[in-house]
Amino acid sequence: MTAITVEGPRAFTGRLRVPGDKSISHRALMLAALGRRPCTIRGLSDGDDVLRTRRAVEALGARVEVAANGEVVVAGGVRGARGPINLGNSGTGIRLLAGLVSGFDFTTTLDGDASVRQRPMDRIIDPLTAMGASVRGSGLNGARAPLAIEGRPLRGIEYRLPVASAQVKGAVLLAGLRAEGPTTVHEPAPTRTHTEEMLAAAGVRVEQGDRSVTVWPGEVDPPDADVPGDPSQAAFWAVGACAAPDSELVVEDVYLGPARTGFIDVLRRMGADIAWDAETGAIRARSSALTGTRVSTEEMPGCIDEVPVLAVAAAVAEGVTVFEGIGELRFKETDRAAAVAEMVVGLGAGCRIDADALAIAGVGPGGVSGRVTVDAHGDHRMAMAAAIAGAVGRVAMTVEGFEATATSYPGFARDLGRVTGRAP
Ligand code: S3P
Repeated sequence: MTAITVEGPRAFTGRLRVPGDKSISHRALMLAALGRRPCTIRGLSDGDDVLRTRRAVEALGARVEVAANGEVVVAGGVRGARGPINLGNSGTGIRLLAGLVSGFDFTTTLDGDASVRQRPMDRIIDPLTAMGASVRGSGLNGARAPLAIEGRPLRGIEYRLPVASAQVKGAVLLAGLRAEGPTTVHEPAPTRTHTEEMLAAAGVRVEQGDRSVTVWPGEVDPPDADVPGDPSQAAFWAVGACAAPDSELVVEDVYLGPARTGFIDVLRRMGADIAWDAETGAIRARSSALTGTRVSTEEMPGCIDEVPVLAVAAAVAEGVTVFEGIGELRFKETDRAAAVAEMVVGLGAGCRIDADALAIAGVGPGGVSGRVTVDAHGDHRMAMAAAIAGAVGRVAMTVEGFEATATSYPGFARDLGRVTGRAP
């Protein structure tokens, strides 16, 4: 395990770009693999999760070439894999791919690392089975990876998501491409819309309703893609700049579409001086006096991945911040409700978890001090949130398991050095 120590407080200044959006990157590779013509993807995420998806589509039969300038050219083809496909740490990769292969006439085994093997897969097994695929999971109740998927002729279904999940919605919609008749997914709260938007851009018939989306089976012709920066990564820098002294920072070219900008709304309610420009995708954040707020269950899918770093903002704010509807946090790369509680308590904040809510009593900007050690628990977002906590407070923060950042942001430590003028 790699440990780093970050000492604060530091100012966050300058301009930067973050890696290409992870959700869009996975889908761009998968749709290109289904595509009839080669397509070029620029700005793909350089994290390990997306690398795994690239290898997965290659294993299924697509050809992927990476040019010296980082452009990726994919010649589609899905013909069947010889051995198991390992998606590493990526819940999005394994779940979306399960949907993609389930209508093809071959058997695929999908697996992941120890974290992915702990995560619930019944949420995709149930709808894909209802569509006619044979999906056998492992472990207790067969609800875990590895998954053995025997593709079959599928029928379109109308499916009500039991939990608000864009991964599950995406898996069902991708399966729907090869089903008989339309497939409709209803969601209990709005989730990110990348699958439906990218399918529509690829010429698939898609109808978006109020909290529902329908796809019709058809061929996929994805256009060349420029992947914008990942808002979930921009959130680390935005919180850093808002919570640290003497800071003003711009993150350029960020995706600012539906269900991805919730963290900006939350930070604004906390009193943050943060603005975004829909034209350019720039987010500008400045030092601010932060106060507590309430994040509702309805809002949660729109900022679910940002909770670890929003918890850092809450820990240095005045007053109490309550995150409601945190059930899904327990099923992320680690149990993030527990990991966040451990981190903020380490920072000296108060923390209480009730059935479905997490409350953080902030120490106020002057309050965080001393030596703190946080274990990332193998979770990239916990590692980065803890590093930001180290940079904004009067602390020496040791982050154990910092190597987890490679999952989504291999250049995080370099960028922390750039925007704060000091390497970790
Ligand atoms: C993602 C959806 C979210 C999110 C994950 C990426 C996606 O998960 O947490 O990081 O790309 O569809 P859920 O669908 O489980 O909410």
